[in-house]
Amino acid sequence: MSTITCIEDLRRLAKRRVPKMFYDYADSGAWTESTYRANQTAFEEIKFRQRVMVDMDDRRLTSEMLGQQVSMPVALAPTGLTGMQHADGEILAARAAEKAGVPFTLSTMSICSIEDVAEAVSKPFWFQLYVMRDRDFVIDLIDRAKAAGCSALMLTADLQILGQRHKDLKNGLTVPPNLTPATLLDLATKWRWCFAMARTKRRTFGNIAGHVKDATDLSSLSKWTASQFDPSLSWDDVKWIKARWNGPLIIKGVMEPEDAERAVDAGADAVIVSNHGGRQLDGACASIEALPDVLQAVGSRTEVYVDGGVRSGQDVLRAVALGARGVFIGRPFLYGLGALGEEGVSRCLEIIRNELDISLALCGLRDIADADLRILKPGSYPLP
Ligand code: FNR
Repeated sequence: MSTITCIEDLRRLAKRRVPKMFYDYADSGAWTESTYRANQTAFEEIKFRQRVMVDMDDRRLTSEMLGQQVSMPVALAPTGLTGMQHADGEILAARAAEKAGVPFTLSTMSICSIEDVAEAVSKPFWFQLYVMRDRDFVIDLIDRAKAAGCSALMLTADLQILGQRHKDLKNGLTVPPNLTPATLLDLATKWRWCFAMARTKRRTFGNIAGHVKDATDLSSLSKWTASQFDPSLSWDDVKWIKARWNGPLIIKGVMEPEDAERAVDAGADAVIVSNHGGRQLDGACASIEALPDVLQAVGSRTEVYVDGGVRSGQDVLRAVALGARGVFIGRPFLYGLGALGEEGVSRCLEIIRNELDISLALCGLRDIADADLRILKPGSYPLP
Protein backbone atom coordinates (compact mmCIF):
# COMPACT_ATOMS: atom_id res chain seq x y z
CA MET A 1 0.00 0.00 0.00
CA SER A 2 2.87 2.41 0.69
CA THR A 3 3.71 2.23 -3.01
CA ILE A 4 0.25 3.56 -3.86
CA THR A 5 0.60 7.31 -3.55
CA CYS A 6 -1.71 8.67 -6.25
CA ILE A 7 -4.75 7.75 -8.34
CA GLU A 8 -2.50 6.86 -11.26
CA ASP A 9 -0.93 4.08 -9.13
CA LEU A 10 -4.39 2.64 -8.51
CA ARG A 11 -5.15 2.82 -12.24
CA ARG A 12 -2.00 0.88 -13.12
CA LEU A 13 -2.71 -1.81 -10.55
CA ALA A 14 -6.35 -2.11 -11.66
CA LYS A 15 -5.19 -2.57 -15.24
CA ARG A 16 -3.15 -5.57 -14.12
CA ARG A 17 -5.93 -7.10 -12.02
CA VAL A 18 -9.23 -6.48 -13.82
CA PRO A 19 -10.17 -8.49 -16.94
CA LYS A 20 -9.41 -6.46 -20.02
CA MET A 21 -13.01 -6.06 -21.18
CA PHE A 22 -14.06 -4.50 -17.85
CA TYR A 23 -10.93 -2.42 -17.37
CA ASP A 24 -11.39 -1.05 -20.88
CA TYR A 25 -15.10 -0.43 -20.21
CA ALA A 26 -14.09 1.88 -17.35
CA ASP A 27 -11.03 3.45 -18.89
CA SER A 28 -12.46 4.60 -22.18
CA GLY A 29 -14.42 7.40 -23.76
CA ALA A 30 -16.59 7.81 -26.84
CA TRP A 31 -15.14 7.74 -30.36
CA THR A 32 -11.81 9.61 -30.50
CA GLU A 33 -11.87 10.08 -26.71
CA SER A 34 -11.08 13.79 -27.16
CA THR A 35 -13.61 14.85 -24.51
CA TYR A 36 -12.41 12.11 -22.18
CA ARG A 37 -8.87 13.49 -22.42
CA ALA A 38 -10.02 17.14 -22.30
CA ASN A 39 -11.81 16.57 -18.98
CA GLN A 40 -8.46 15.94 -17.33
CA THR A 41 -6.23 18.37 -19.23
CA ALA A 42 -8.63 21.28 -18.65
CA PHE A 43 -8.11 20.91 -14.90
CA GLU A 44 -4.35 21.15 -15.33
CA GLU A 45 -4.72 24.52 -17.06
CA ILE A 46 -6.21 26.05 -13.92
CA LYS A 47 -3.39 27.42 -11.76
CA PHE A 48 -3.35 28.17 -8.05
CA ARG A 49 -1.92 31.22 -6.31
CA GLN A 50 0.58 29.92 -3.76
CA ARG A 51 0.46 31.86 -0.49
CA VAL A 52 2.97 31.82 2.37
CA MET A 53 3.32 32.89 6.01
CA VAL A 54 -0.36 32.61 6.82
CA ASP A 55 -1.69 30.51 9.67
CA MET A 56 -2.61 27.16 8.08
CA ASP A 57 -3.10 25.23 11.28
CA ASP A 58 -6.33 23.39 12.13
CA ARG A 59 -7.91 22.96 8.71
CA ARG A 60 -11.47 22.03 7.79
CA LEU A 61 -12.69 20.16 4.72
CA THR A 62 -16.23 19.37 5.85
CA SER A 63 -19.09 20.65 3.77
CA GLU A 64 -22.71 19.97 2.84
CA MET A 65 -24.14 18.38 -0.28
CA LEU A 66 -27.95 18.39 -0.61
CA GLY A 67 -28.24 19.21 3.08
CA GLN A 68 -26.10 16.21 4.02
CA GLN A 69 -22.89 16.66 6.04
CA VAL A 70 -19.90 15.41 4.04
CA SER A 71 -16.34 15.03 5.28
CA MET A 72 -15.13 16.68 2.06
CA PRO A 73 -17.04 17.96 -0.99
CA VAL A 74 -16.61 14.72 -2.94
CA ALA A 75 -19.13 12.00 -3.82
CA LEU A 76 -18.92 8.71 -5.70
CA ALA A 77 -20.54 8.97 -9.12
CA PRO A 78 -22.92 6.28 -10.37
CA THR A 79 -21.07 3.77 -12.52
CA GLY A 80 -22.58 0.79 -14.31
CA LEU A 81 -21.14 -2.74 -13.99
CA THR A 82 -19.14 -1.76 -10.90
CA GLY A 83 -19.54 -5.30 -9.62
CA MET A 84 -17.50 -6.41 -12.62
CA GLN A 85 -14.46 -4.32 -11.62
CA HIS A 86 -14.43 -6.43 -8.45
CA ALA A 87 -16.90 -8.96 -7.07
CA ASP A 88 -19.62 -7.18 -5.05
CA GLY A 89 -18.09 -3.89 -6.19
CA GLU A 90 -21.07 -1.66 -5.39
CA ILE A 91 -21.30 -2.99 -1.83
CA LEU A 92 -17.57 -2.51 -1.27
CA ALA A 93 -17.58 1.01 -2.70
CA ALA A 94 -20.68 1.99 -0.71
CA ARG A 95 -19.01 0.77 2.50
CA ALA A 96 -15.80 2.64 1.76
CA ALA A 97 -17.77 5.82 1.00
CA GLU A 98 -19.74 5.48 4.23
CA LYS A 99 -16.53 5.05 6.25
CA ALA A 100 -15.03 8.10 4.55
CA GLY A 101 -18.15 10.20 5.15
CA VAL A 102 -18.95 10.90 1.50
CA PRO A 103 -22.09 10.07 -0.52
CA PHE A 104 -22.28 6.95 -2.67
CA THR A 105 -24.53 6.82 -5.74
CA LEU A 106 -25.78 3.48 -7.02
CA SER A 107 -26.34 3.17 -10.77
CA THR A 108 -29.46 1.66 -12.31
CA MET A 109 -26.98 -0.53 -14.24
CA SER A 110 -25.33 -1.91 -11.11
CA ILE A 111 -24.51 -5.55 -10.46
CA CYS A 112 -25.46 -5.43 -6.76
CA SER A 113 -29.11 -4.42 -6.39
CA ILE A 114 -30.57 -1.47 -4.48
CA GLU A 115 -31.59 -3.90 -1.74
CA ASP A 116 -28.13 -5.57 -1.61
CA VAL A 117 -26.46 -2.21 -1.01
CA ALA A 118 -29.09 -1.04 1.49
CA GLU A 119 -28.47 -4.17 3.54
CA ALA A 120 -24.69 -3.61 3.56
CA VAL A 121 -24.59 0.01 4.73
CA SER A 122 -26.16 1.84 7.63
CA LYS A 123 -26.55 5.33 6.17
CA PRO A 124 -28.72 6.32 3.19
CA PHE A 125 -27.09 6.35 -0.25
CA TRP A 126 -28.22 8.01 -3.50
CA PHE A 127 -29.80 6.22 -6.43
CA GLN A 128 -29.23 7.06 -10.11
CA LEU A 129 -32.10 6.52 -12.50
CA TYR A 130 -32.04 5.73 -16.21
CA VAL A 131 -35.46 6.08 -17.75
CA MET A 132 -36.51 2.96 -19.63
CA ARG A 133 -39.33 2.66 -22.16
CA ASP A 134 -41.26 0.54 -19.67
CA ARG A 135 -42.53 3.29 -17.36
CA ASP A 136 -44.00 0.80 -14.91
CA PHE A 137 -40.50 -0.52 -14.39
CA VAL A 138 -39.19 3.04 -13.85
CA ILE A 139 -41.90 3.59 -11.25
CA ASP A 140 -40.90 0.31 -9.63
CA LEU A 141 -37.24 1.41 -9.48
CA ILE A 142 -38.19 4.73 -7.89
CA ASP A 143 -40.36 2.95 -5.32
CA ARG A 144 -37.60 0.43 -4.56
CA ALA A 145 -35.09 3.24 -4.03
CA LYS A 146 -37.52 4.93 -1.69
CA ALA A 147 -38.23 1.71 0.22
CA ALA A 148 -34.47 1.14 0.58
CA GLY A 149 -34.13 4.56 2.23
CA CYS A 150 -32.17 6.28 -0.56
CA SER A 151 -31.93 9.97 0.30
CA ALA A 152 -31.62 11.45 -3.21
CA LEU A 153 -32.61 10.45 -6.72
CA MET A 154 -30.22 11.32 -9.54
CA LEU A 155 -31.78 11.43 -12.97
CA THR A 156 -29.20 10.99 -15.72
CA ALA A 157 -30.21 13.08 -18.70
CA ASP A 158 -27.38 12.46 -21.15
CA LEU A 159 -27.59 8.77 -21.98
CA GLN A 160 -30.90 8.00 -23.60
CA ILE A 161 -28.82 7.09 -26.64
CA LEU A 162 -25.46 5.42 -26.10
CA GLY A 163 -22.26 7.04 -27.34
CA GLN A 164 -20.05 4.55 -29.14
CA ARG A 165 -16.97 3.24 -27.34
CA HIS A 166 -14.74 1.34 -29.71
CA LYS A 167 -13.11 -0.82 -27.08
CA ASP A 168 -16.43 -2.26 -25.84
CA LEU A 169 -17.31 -3.31 -29.38
CA LYS A 170 -13.87 -4.74 -30.07
CA ASN A 171 -13.79 -6.62 -26.76
CA GLY A 172 -17.35 -7.94 -27.25
CA LEU A 173 -18.38 -6.69 -23.80
CA THR A 174 -20.76 -9.12 -22.11
CA VAL A 175 -21.97 -9.53 -18.53
CA PRO A 176 -20.84 -12.00 -17.32
CA PRO A 177 -17.95 -12.37 -19.80
CA ASN A 178 -18.41 -14.86 -22.62
CA LEU A 179 -15.78 -17.53 -22.31
CA THR A 180 -13.89 -17.30 -25.59
CA PRO A 181 -10.23 -18.38 -25.99
CA ALA A 182 -9.21 -14.70 -25.69
CA THR A 183 -11.19 -14.03 -22.49
CA LEU A 184 -10.09 -17.34 -20.95
CA LEU A 185 -6.47 -16.47 -21.61
CA ASP A 186 -6.99 -13.05 -20.06
CA LEU A 187 -8.88 -14.44 -17.04
CA ALA A 188 -6.06 -16.91 -16.40
CA THR A 189 -3.84 -13.95 -15.53
CA LYS A 190 -6.51 -12.28 -13.36
CA TRP A 191 -6.82 -14.99 -10.70
CA ARG A 192 -7.68 -12.62 -7.81
CA TRP A 193 -10.64 -11.30 -9.76
CA CYS A 194 -11.74 -14.86 -10.67
CA PHE A 195 -11.53 -16.14 -7.07
CA ALA A 196 -13.52 -13.22 -5.71
CA MET A 197 -16.09 -13.58 -8.49
CA ALA A 198 -16.42 -17.30 -7.81
CA ARG A 199 -17.43 -16.48 -4.21
CA THR A 200 -20.33 -14.18 -5.09
CA LYS A 201 -23.70 -14.83 -6.65
CA ARG A 202 -23.96 -11.27 -7.95
CA ARG A 203 -22.85 -11.56 -11.54
CA THR A 204 -25.55 -9.84 -13.52
CA PHE A 205 -27.59 -6.64 -13.38
CA GLY A 206 -29.10 -6.73 -9.90
CA ASN A 207 -31.74 -4.05 -10.49
CA ILE A 208 -32.97 -5.09 -13.87
CA ALA A 209 -32.44 -8.83 -14.28
CA GLY A 210 -35.81 -10.47 -14.00
CA HIS A 211 -37.59 -7.35 -15.25
CA VAL A 212 -35.94 -6.87 -18.60
CA LYS A 213 -35.53 -9.65 -21.14
CA ASP A 214 -31.91 -10.36 -22.17
CA ALA A 215 -30.49 -8.13 -19.45
CA THR A 216 -27.59 -10.54 -19.12
CA ASP A 217 -26.52 -10.29 -22.72
CA LEU A 218 -24.64 -7.13 -23.41
CA SER A 219 -22.92 -8.52 -26.48
CA SER A 220 -24.31 -5.49 -28.21
CA LEU A 221 -24.57 -2.85 -25.51
CA SER A 222 -25.69 -0.21 -28.00
CA LYS A 223 -28.51 -2.37 -29.40
CA TRP A 224 -29.58 -3.36 -25.92
CA THR A 225 -29.63 0.24 -24.71
CA ALA A 226 -31.50 1.33 -27.82
CA SER A 227 -34.18 -1.25 -27.12
CA GLN A 228 -34.59 -0.43 -23.40
CA PHE A 229 -33.71 3.23 -22.79
CA ASP A 230 -36.30 5.78 -23.79
CA PRO A 231 -34.88 8.31 -26.27
CA SER A 232 -38.07 10.37 -26.03
CA LEU A 233 -37.29 11.39 -22.41
CA SER A 234 -38.11 15.10 -21.99
CA TRP A 235 -38.41 17.80 -19.33
CA ASP A 236 -42.10 16.90 -18.92
CA ASP A 237 -41.04 13.51 -17.59
CA VAL A 238 -39.00 15.17 -14.84
CA LYS A 239 -42.22 16.47 -13.28
CA TRP A 240 -43.84 13.06 -12.82
CA ILE A 241 -40.55 11.51 -11.75
CA LYS A 242 -40.13 14.24 -9.13
CA ALA A 243 -43.74 13.81 -7.97
CA ARG A 244 -43.36 10.05 -7.67
CA TRP A 245 -40.02 10.34 -5.88
CA ASN A 246 -41.12 13.17 -3.64
CA GLY A 247 -37.60 13.88 -2.35
CA PRO A 248 -34.35 15.60 -3.36
CA LEU A 249 -33.75 15.31 -7.11
CA ILE A 250 -30.42 15.78 -8.88
CA ILE A 251 -30.23 16.11 -12.66
CA LYS A 252 -26.97 14.84 -14.11
CA GLY A 253 -25.50 15.58 -17.50
CA VAL A 254 -26.26 19.28 -17.87
CA MET A 255 -23.60 21.17 -19.84
CA GLU A 256 -25.44 24.28 -21.09
CA PRO A 257 -27.04 27.13 -19.11
CA GLU A 258 -30.36 26.77 -21.00
CA ASP A 259 -30.62 23.15 -19.92
CA ALA A 260 -29.64 24.02 -16.37
CA GLU A 261 -32.49 26.55 -16.26
CA ARG A 262 -34.96 23.97 -17.62
CA ALA A 263 -33.72 21.47 -15.04
CA VAL A 264 -34.30 23.86 -12.15
CA ASP A 265 -37.69 24.92 -13.54
CA ALA A 266 -38.62 21.23 -13.75
CA GLY A 267 -37.85 20.78 -10.05
CA ALA A 268 -34.18 19.80 -9.76
CA ASP A 269 -32.69 20.46 -6.34
CA ALA A 270 -29.19 20.16 -7.79
CA VAL A 271 -27.56 19.75 -11.19
CA ILE A 272 -24.35 18.01 -12.15
CA VAL A 273 -22.33 19.59 -14.91
CA SER A 274 -21.19 16.44 -16.65
CA ASN A 275 -20.44 15.00 -20.06
CA HIS A 276 -20.63 11.49 -18.66
CA GLY A 277 -16.87 11.31 -18.25
CA GLY A 278 -16.37 11.82 -22.00
CA ARG A 279 -18.34 8.65 -22.75
CA GLN A 280 -21.17 10.26 -24.72
CA LEU A 281 -20.72 13.30 -26.99
CA ASP A 282 -17.14 13.19 -28.18
CA GLY A 283 -16.15 16.76 -29.01
CA ALA A 284 -18.10 18.30 -26.13
CA CYS A 285 -16.01 20.67 -24.03
CA ALA A 286 -14.47 19.61 -20.75
CA SER A 287 -17.04 19.66 -17.98
CA ILE A 288 -14.96 22.02 -15.81
CA GLU A 289 -15.03 24.51 -18.73
CA ALA A 290 -18.83 24.31 -18.81
CA LEU A 291 -19.16 24.95 -15.07
CA PRO A 292 -18.94 28.79 -14.94
CA ASP A 293 -21.79 29.36 -17.43
CA VAL A 294 -24.06 26.93 -15.58
CA LEU A 295 -23.19 28.56 -12.27
CA GLN A 296 -24.00 31.98 -13.63
CA ALA A 297 -27.37 30.73 -14.88
CA VAL A 298 -28.60 28.76 -11.87
CA GLY A 299 -26.00 28.99 -9.12
CA SER A 300 -28.20 31.23 -7.00
CA ARG A 301 -31.20 28.89 -7.30
CA THR A 302 -29.69 25.44 -6.88
CA GLU A 303 -26.61 23.46 -5.92
CA VAL A 304 -24.24 22.90 -8.80
CA TYR A 305 -21.82 19.98 -8.87
CA VAL A 306 -19.34 18.92 -11.52
CA ASP A 307 -17.77 15.64 -12.58
CA GLY A 308 -15.39 14.41 -15.24
CA GLY A 309 -11.61 14.30 -15.07
CA VAL A 310 -11.16 14.83 -11.32
CA ARG A 311 -8.00 12.88 -10.52
CA SER A 312 -6.65 14.62 -7.44
CA GLY A 313 -7.46 16.75 -4.43
CA GLN A 314 -6.06 19.68 -6.41
CA ASP A 315 -8.83 19.14 -8.98
CA VAL A 316 -11.44 19.10 -6.22
CA LEU A 317 -10.07 22.41 -4.94
CA ARG A 318 -10.07 23.92 -8.45
CA ALA A 319 -13.73 22.96 -8.94
CA VAL A 320 -14.78 24.25 -5.53
CA ALA A 321 -12.84 27.50 -6.07
CA LEU A 322 -14.74 27.98 -9.33
CA GLY A 323 -18.00 27.66 -7.40
CA ALA A 324 -19.00 23.98 -7.47
CA ARG A 325 -20.72 22.80 -4.29
CA GLY A 326 -18.99 19.45 -4.72
CA VAL A 327 -17.51 17.06 -7.25
CA PHE A 328 -18.26 13.48 -8.24
CA ILE A 329 -15.56 10.98 -9.06
CA GLY A 330 -16.09 7.95 -11.29
CA ARG A 331 -12.98 6.25 -12.61
CA PRO A 332 -10.72 7.10 -9.64
CA PHE A 333 -12.79 4.95 -7.28
CA LEU A 334 -13.24 2.25 -9.94
CA TYR A 335 -9.46 2.02 -10.25
CA GLY A 336 -9.23 1.67 -6.48
CA LEU A 337 -11.87 -1.03 -6.49
CA GLY A 338 -10.24 -2.99 -9.31
CA ALA A 339 -6.83 -2.67 -7.68
CA LEU A 340 -7.62 -3.50 -4.06
CA GLY A 341 -11.37 -3.91 -3.52
CA GLU A 342 -12.88 -1.92 -0.64
CA GLU A 343 -9.43 -1.00 0.65
CA GLY A 344 -8.63 0.49 -2.75
CA VAL A 345 -11.72 2.73 -2.72
CA SER A 346 -10.77 3.86 0.79
CA ARG A 347 -7.23 4.50 -0.42
CA CYS A 348 -8.56 6.54 -3.36
CA LEU A 349 -10.59 8.73 -1.01
CA GLU A 350 -7.68 9.11 1.43
CA ILE A 351 -5.36 10.18 -1.38
CA ILE A 352 -7.83 12.80 -2.59
CA ARG A 353 -8.51 14.03 0.95
CA ASN A 354 -4.81 14.39 1.72
CA GLU A 355 -4.11 16.22 -1.53
CA LEU A 356 -7.07 18.52 -0.97
CA ASP A 357 -6.02 19.30 2.59
CA ILE A 358 -2.41 20.10 1.72
CA SER A 359 -3.31 22.11 -1.41
CA LEU A 360 -5.83 24.15 0.58
CA ALA A 361 -3.10 24.99 3.10
CA LEU A 362 -0.60 25.91 0.41
CA CYS A 363 -3.17 28.29 -1.05
CA GLY A 364 -3.24 29.95 2.38
CA LEU A 365 -6.65 28.71 3.52
CA ARG A 366 -7.85 26.75 6.53
CA ASP A 367 -11.47 26.15 5.56
CA ILE A 368 -12.68 24.73 2.26
CA ALA A 369 -15.72 27.02 2.61
CA ASP A 370 -13.41 29.99 1.96
CA ALA A 371 -12.11 28.62 -1.35
CA ASP A 372 -13.12 30.88 -4.23
CA LEU A 373 -11.67 32.52 -7.33
CA ARG A 374 -9.14 34.42 -5.19
CA ILE A 375 -7.01 31.28 -4.86
CA LEU A 376 -6.78 30.89 -8.66
CA LYS A 377 -4.44 32.70 -11.01
CA PRO A 378 -6.49 35.14 -13.10
CA GLY A 379 -6.47 34.20 -16.77
CA SER A 380 -5.92 30.50 -16.07
CA TYR A 381 -9.51 29.55 -15.41
CA PRO A 382 -12.69 29.57 -17.54
CA LEU A 383 -15.07 32.50 -17.07
CA PRO A 384 -18.79 32.74 -17.90
C1 FNR B 1 -20.14 5.97 -15.85
N1 FNR B 1 -21.05 6.99 -15.70
C2 FNR B 1 -22.38 6.70 -15.44
N2 FNR B 1 -23.25 7.70 -15.18
C3 FNR B 1 -24.54 7.42 -14.87
O1 FNR B 1 -25.30 8.34 -14.63
N3 FNR B 1 -24.96 6.12 -14.80
C4 FNR B 1 -24.14 5.07 -15.06
O2 FNR B 1 -24.55 3.92 -14.98
C5 FNR B 1 -22.81 5.37 -15.42
N4 FNR B 1 -21.94 4.37 -15.73
C6 FNR B 1 -20.61 4.63 -15.87
C7 FNR B 1 -19.70 3.59 -16.01
C8 FNR B 1 -18.34 3.85 -16.07
C9 FNR B 1 -17.39 2.71 -16.18
C10 FNR B 1 -17.88 5.19 -16.02
C11 FNR B 1 -16.41 5.48 -16.08
C12 FNR B 1 -18.77 6.21 -15.93
C13 FNR B 1 -20.59 8.38 -15.66
C14 FNR B 1 -20.17 8.77 -14.24
O3 FNR B 1 -21.27 8.86 -13.40
C15 FNR B 1 -19.42 10.11 -14.21
O4 FNR B 1 -20.18 11.07 -14.88
C16 FNR B 1 -18.03 10.03 -14.81
O5 FNR B 1 -17.41 8.82 -14.49
C17 FNR B 1 -17.18 11.18 -14.30
O6 FNR B 1 -15.94 11.17 -14.90
P1 FNR B 1 -14.60 10.53 -14.27
O7 FNR B 1 -14.57 10.89 -12.81
O8 FNR B 1 -14.73 9.06 -14.49
O9 FNR B 1 -13.53 11.14 -15.08
